[in-house]
Amino acid sequence: VSDQATKLRELARMRASEEAVDSAPGSPPVLLAERKHLARVIAVTSGKGGVGKTHVSVNLAVALALRGKRVVIFDADLGLANVDILLGLKPVYTLSDVVAGSRDVFDILLDGPAGVQVVPGASGIPYLANLGPADREHMLSDLARLESAADVLVIDTGAGISETTTSFVSFADEILVVATPEATSITDAYAMIKVISRRERHGRFSLVVNMAQNRIEAERVSGSIRNVAREFLGTEVHSAGHIVRDQHIALALRKREPFVLAYPSSQAAACIRSIAAQTASRIGSGRTQNKISFFSKIRSFFQRSAL
Ligand SMILES: Nc1ncnc2c1ncn2[C@@H]1O[C@H](COP(=O)(O)OP(=O)(O)O)[C@@H](O)[C@H]1O
Ligand SMILES: [Mg+2]
Repeated sequence: VSDQATKLRELARMRASEEAVDSAPGSPPVLLAERKHLARVIAVTSGKGGVGKTHVSVNLAVALALRGKRVVIFDADLGLANVDILLGLKPVYTLSDVVAGSRDVFDILLDGPAGVQVVPGASGIPYLANLGPADREHMLSDLARLESAADVLVIDTGAGISETTTSFVSFADEILVVATPEATSITDAYAMIKVISRRERHGRFSLVVNMAQNRIEAERVSGSIRNVAREFLGTEVHSAGHIVRDQHIALALRKREPFVLAYPSSQAAACIRSIAAQTASRIGSGRTQNKISFFSKIRSFFQRSAL
């Protein structure tokens, strides 16, 4: 595993230095990024907290890694159970070290299970928004290097519909909305989809119903959200599948291991593997040519907001 991590870092650094050679001084970063093969960006989000975003992010990332993808998780949620806690990882450096210029983004990556690499949390989207323009530019261009290094970048985003959070989410290739059968979760998921779907451009929506009793309940919940989105917003929300309510999730959390590894024969693990199989087959090789870098879009967003 650590071997794979080292290889990822080497490859990433190599690509990053090629880019530096390629780029004429003053060339626009977005144009440069457009030519590269870049990771598919999956933003995991929800209207309401506590619905299982972090568990979905971590276990989907691991399940995709088990299918041979190079996966990086970016922890952008300031929730209680951070990605690093779920995986029993102890961050040594954080994005603030990147901002300070003493580390680069590859130094702060943590080695997670199955070769998954983690950009540790305690940073969050509000953190980015509060940085000065020069620090933010520096950090975002460093983060953009991750996109050339991975096949899939999974972002665990915060809940809520602030302008900055929803912009971030809308820039992802895939917007994976997590909802539970609870009424408030359903209405909040719909509200989230509504806000994002009104933006000029946004990624493909899909929905995971978490903590369902069974497939039938999940399909009922998923059907109602997808129908309302289609009817009232004209927005197609694809079904990504469901995860049953499963006590193995709490047991795995106690062991600080992803449930898909700690309890591979649990129902929840079967559910997440099926979501990962569907995701992997849809994104194919994962990397997309001629797409605009996610972090470049965020840079442009901040540049526009500053006007
Ligand atoms: N499918 C599930 N079955 C049982 N418990 C779950 C399931 N998914 C999540 N949980 C529990 O719900 C809580 C919230 O999960 P978490 O991933 O931290 O949510 P979020 O990131 O959306 O705030 C955790 O205590 C977790 O163990
Ligand atoms: Mg969370």
